[in-house]
Amino acid sequence: MQHISSRLIHGLPDSQASDFNRSLKTPIYESASFDFETAEDAEKAFTGETDAFAYSRISNPTVTELQNRLKLFSNAEQCLCVSSGMAAISNVFLTLCSTGDNIITSQYLFGNTLSFFAKTIRSFGIEARFSNLEAPQSILDNIDEHTRAIFLELPTNPQLIFFDVPAIAKIAREKRIPLIVDNTVLTPYLFPCQQYGVDIEIFSNTKFVSGGATSIGGTVLVYGSDKWAHNPKLAVDYEKFGQDAFFKRLYKEVYRNIGACLSPNNAYLQLLGLETITLRIDRIMDNTLEMARFLQNQPKVLKVRYGALENDPGYAMAMELTKGKAGCLISLELENKAACYLFMNALQMIRRGTNFCDNKSMIIHPASTIYWDFSPEDKQRMQISEGLLRLSVGLEAIEDIKSDIQQALSLL
Ligand SMILES: Cc1ncc(COP(=O)(O)O)c(C=O)c1O
Repeated sequence: MQHISSRLIHGLPDSQASDFNRSLKTPIYESASFDFETAEDAEKAFTGETDAFAYSRISNPTVTELQNRLKLFSNAEQCLCVSSGMAAISNVFLTLCSTGDNIITSQYLFGNTLSFFAKTIRSFGIEARFSNLEAPQSILDNIDEHTRAIFLELPTNPQLIFFDVPAIAKIAREKRIPLIVDNTVLTPYLFPCQQYGVDIEIFSNTKFVSGGATSIGGTVLVYGSDKWAHNPKLAVDYEKFGQDAFFKRLYKEVYRNIGACLSPNNAYLQLLGLETITLRIDRIMDNTLEMARFLQNQPKVLKVRYGALENDPGYAMAMELTKGKAGCLISLELENKAACYLFMNALQMIRRGTNFCDNKSMIIHPASTIYWDFSPEDKQRMQISEGLLRLSVGLEAIEDIKSDIQQALSLL
């Protein structure tokens, strides 16, 4: 079998042949609707007898090619691309949960994911039980017969904690609860969910997949699982579709009713992104490790977190799960908010921005931006201190990233 970088560039053997002009790039099918030769063909497309394209909120050739390429990337059984990472999360939980259900997760989450769990699904009577995912007993204590999922980010953003995924997957297996991982920071290239008992993987395409922040998008990947049989909402689907139960309910009902489909143009940009993703990630991993080591030796930097540093609490787990390629994010702490602002404003090349896995290095002060509307107590609980900065290391020459950081630190 070819290396993943070659497969991502070429796609499935018939993907070029399927374009009637044999275009070497996947064409952008910017069309809302598709023509049927006969009324019978239309009926077959709607009943699912054929997978002919009918309407782009439901399926689209450019988006389908991206989904096929992401299946190659991850070895997932099924893939659905949607309009954003948040759309991926909301589609998944609205498929799995009904009023009265609960999910287990950690308090260490991306801000909108946290708000989705703490506020949005709560108003539908679905409870997020924020547990200590580093302590198996806390997970077990919170599970009951209405628990429909365990959800985690790897590593957590911005604390950069590496959970013991094999231990959590063991609990999920024993309790027959789907394990869902947000793999935005690592992607299937660095953390192959399939090998660790993950049932559903989601990520934001906006980051690495888009080719360095060209567009917004999200992905849901589903691995073979029988756990759907134990979810009353999916039990009927399981009788009909077996392992496909979750995906059928997601694709045939929730996804098309919510309407957060990916635009064909964004799918095209994300297909281009996949062609270079392994190259970009390899270079960014080298840059990030070097920057983490560099920052550790700066007296003005009080603390650095990066899983691939030998003295990081997550080191053993990062080595086991990602072979030490721990993502593009580094968390660092300066003395206080004023020091952070002085440092950020002095940067000349590194951008002040809220994305990550971009080609450009980027920095943000999480407490005053992503988490601005959380109380000081909440921020303290989530380890979002006033001195915390999140650096996303980009593709630039490492000497340039270092010298920009150095000149800004020298002003403190
Ligand atoms: C870990 C993580 N998951 C999900 C999302 C949401 O992705 P999107 O912005 O594409 O909706 C983000 C956004 O930054 C994120 O950091």
